[in-house]
Amino acid sequence: MLQIKNLTVKVFDKIIIEDFNLEIKEGEIHALMGQNGAGKSTIAKVLMRDKNYEVVSGTITLNGEDLLRMNTTEVARNGAFLVSQNPVEIPGVSNAEMLRTSLNDQGKNELNILEFNKKLTRLCEKLEIPTSFIHRDINYNMSGGEKKKNELLHMWMLTPSFLILDEIDSGLDVDALKLVGNSIQEYITNYHPMVLIITHQKTLLDIVKPDRVHILNHKQITQSGDASLAEKIFKEGFSGASIIDRRDIDA
Ligand SMILES: Nc1ncnc2c1ncn2[C@@H]1O[C@H](COP(=O)(O)OP(=O)(O)OP(=O)(O)O)[C@@H](O)[C@H]1O
Ligand SMILES: [Mg+2]
Repeated sequence: MLQIKNLTVKVFDKIIIEDFNLEIKEGEIHALMGQNGAGKSTIAKVLMRDKNYEVVSGTITLNGEDLLRMNTTEVARNGAFLVSQNPVEIPGVSNAEMLRTSLNDQGKNELNILEFNKKLTRLCEKLEIPTSFIHRDINYNMSGGEKKKNELLHMWMLTPSFLILDEIDSGLDVDALKLVGNSIQEYITNYHPMVLIITHQKTLLDIVKPDRVHILNHKQITQSGDASLAEKIFKEGFSGASIIDRRDIDA
């Protein structure tokens, strides 16, 4: 379970998030929506303990443990996995090297090298990426869409229990979007992780149906609802749906 209480976050002396509250229970899928610059990615980065984002006040617990006392590695060891809006390129470290090291670190590396390569090969085929990706440097010189699929390769290998998907659907072509959505849904069916989806698009939420939808506005969640709230936004826009009214925009 994830619990964020009264969170206030500062980036270079500017308050971006203020008095933010969110609770995700075991196996729940939550979507976080909001206009550009609202602070959605900031939440994702705070959860992964990015040092640029200073937590001024509030608490975050992940499965009962104080997340704010963890560093990024420890958050990952506790099951969190972020697909960031712009996945970082890591030249000099291959997918295979990183995955083997991480699995060893988690004590989950039960496969010998042949089985490990076979599993990666099978996953590459499923994700429709070349098997040469296994030995390519992480995200390095990959296209935007390839990077997103490469992140899913990591997800399937590392089997996280808390997925944070920050615009995993951006930059994907129509077919890739369906493939990525179906792959995430298959993962959810198999592993029942907690999921936080950040998206601006309808297609992903049509495939991966959220239990709860939250609107981030004015530094905090101003409205929550079921999947129909997302439907309303896709239909009418944030302002059209009276989710963010004219006074908010002018303020
Ligand atoms: N490292 C940073 N340095 C300076 N400003 C930052 C930094 N990170 C975020 N911000 C600012 O914080 C605000 C929130 O940014 P954030 O990336 O969280 O928005 P977002 O809701 O994810 O938007 P989008 O939908 O466009 O991805 C923006 O005004 C952004 O410019
Ligand atoms: Mg963002």
